[in-house]
Amino acid sequence: MLHLIDKLKDKFENDLAKVQSLPEIEKLKIQYTSRKGKVAELFNQMKDVSSEERPQIGKKLNELKNHINSKIDEYLAQVKTKSAESQLDLTLPGRNPFVGRKHPLTKTLEEMKSIFCRMGFSIEDGPEIETDYYCFEALNIPKNHPARDMQDTLYITDDIVLRTHTSPVQVRVMEKTSPPVKIIAPGRVYRRDTPDASHSPFFHQVEGLVVDEGICFGDLKGVITGFAHKMFGSDIKVRFRPSFFPFTEPSAEYDFICVFCRGKGCRVCKNTGWVEISGAGMVDPNVFKYVNYDSEKYTGYAFGMGVDRIAMLRYGIYDIRLFFENDVRFLEQF
Ligand code: DAH
Repeated sequence: MLHLIDKLKDKFENDLAKVQSLPEIEKLKIQYTSRKGKVAELFNQMKDVSSEERPQIGKKLNELKNHINSKIDEYLAQVKTKSAESQLDLTLPGRNPFVGRKHPLTKTLEEMKSIFCRMGFSIEDGPEIETDYYCFEALNIPKNHPARDMQDTLYITDDIVLRTHTSPVQVRVMEKTSPPVKIIAPGRVYRRDTPDASHSPFFHQVEGLVVDEGICFGDLKGVITGFAHKMFGSDIKVRFRPSFFPFTEPSAEYDFICVFCRGKGCRVCKNTGWVEISGAGMVDPNVFKYVNYDSEKYTGYAFGMGVDRIAMLRYGIYDIRLFFENDVRFLEQF
């Protein structure tokens, strides 16, 4: 019997050495280890073995069984790794990891902030959910004043609004600091507007405010023109047109010469050669009254600036909605 076991082991080693494919090893497995296989046959013959010999032979037979099982498993594992390797196409190009980048509005705002900081402005912040008082009242726009129609307001309650402009930050800053003041206040603003290529129910502004003794309209022109040159190049012309805002007197709207056609007329400037940027003016003494500034001693200028508009000019974008749709194909270009 011991001899038979050794013989079977040798035969198995021989057979295994000849195996060349997965079906062949499967066949071998059945031949040796199934319930009617060669190992089971030997186990059957155990009944004829004397009780003295039985423990030794039983042990040997079990060893053979384990040996065969583990050899077959080893072979199967090897076949699996090999086939996984053969499915790897090493000539395939690698996959580039996706690298995020800054939103064009963020980049534009960062550039704007940096230009103003270099001119000595510091940066202030204010809430997007604002009271009627800061958004209108203290900016010299009383309730029921026709000037309220200039901006379509989203009301939360009669007294609380989504800010329609960043001008309320002027009031908040003046309330807590005495002159001199030289700040910009960037942020998001909201209006009840139907979206189209040039309108969005929310957009971004940078508010500017300078108050000190002896500040005049010439200072305002200098800062706006300096900004235009730093942002778009020193050949960019700026023009001021008389206008009206309740919080400034005199008031103006200002335009940059079209960055694309340099004044010749094109699609962006609707053939006028100029692109409207925002409003500005000398702070109205009525606003100073709300924050207890002495308007006999101090004067100041204020201006607004549309970040989205500047970014559209900066990057040649024709539709403001693109900024907010977050289409990766758009965002990837910046
Ligand atoms: N707040 C105005 C708007 O959103 C823009 C503006 C005009 C801001 C004149 C100012 C200013 O500071 O002086 O339309």
